[in-house]
Amino acid sequence: MSAPADNDVSRASAGVRAPGRARLAARTLRTDRWWLSPLLTVLGLATFVVYATVRAFVRTAYWVPEYHYLTPFYSPCVSTSCVPGSSHFGHWFGEMPSWLPLGVLVLPFLLGFRLTCYYYRKAYYRSVWFSPPACAVAEPHARYTGETRLPLIVQNVHRYFFYVACVVSLVNTYDAIVAFQSPSGFGFGLGNVILVVNVVLLWAYTLSCHSCRHVTGGRLKHFSKHPVRYWIWTQVTKLNTRHMALAWTTLGTLVLTDFYVMLVSSGAISDLRFVG
Ligand code: FES
Repeated sequence: MSAPADNDVSRASAGVRAPGRARLAARTLRTDRWWLSPLLTVLGLATFVVYATVRAFVRTAYWVPEYHYLTPFYSPCVSTSCVPGSSHFGHWFGEMPSWLPLGVLVLPFLLGFRLTCYYYRKAYYRSVWFSPPACAVAEPHARYTGETRLPLIVQNVHRYFFYVACVVSLVNTYDAIVAFQSPSGFGFGLGNVILVVNVVLLWAYTLSCHSCRHVTGGRLKHFSKHPVRYWIWTQVTKLNTRHMALAWTTLGTLVLTDFYVMLVSSGAISDLRFVG
């Protein structure tokens, strides 16, 4: 008998229910809480997306003029709509309409970087698309084409988002350095600690990228002929084993950094100052 055409495949006859497989009524025989991990993933991602979207559009409390604290959601701020002092790299654009985020120059690339990230792909393919919801839990889909077709074949451009993310990390590093300010010159406060920790973790996440591992040394055949790239590859590989943890930690530090800058900028709290 020939295999059924794609459009003849139904959920009732696909996967674990395909003819010839052992007949089991249950979707899975797992007795643990396999649904907990996808549920937490969806809640975590949704919380970040809602917070980041609101903050990116509100255009309030993103800059602290006394201490030069700039939230990463508005960096770089290169429009004349940005509040005075917050444009570290000059004004590239005139006034921006209120429906455009002031960070529009890089936010789409950062979104693309995380959307095409190998870890996040695993996370949302499982928790949002249920493909699969968990190991050994039957999918709700009758067909599966993986990443072989549009739109998912576009995930292969991830390395280009990685290159842009490196540039954005340099911009964030510059922001963190120029934030050592006070009205009388050099200054150092709790905001600096938060900005620096955030930027260090953003670098760790960016450099732990699977594409980074590939371009630095993963694509080589003979490590013995490339000692420097081999060393870099070994360091990136160590970081890469923490990529999932760094993906979540940096979502947290981005929110925390933005939230702290918002509180200080709006006057809700004052910065804890150590110097200046
Ligand atoms: S694989 Fe996650 S950022 Fe590249």
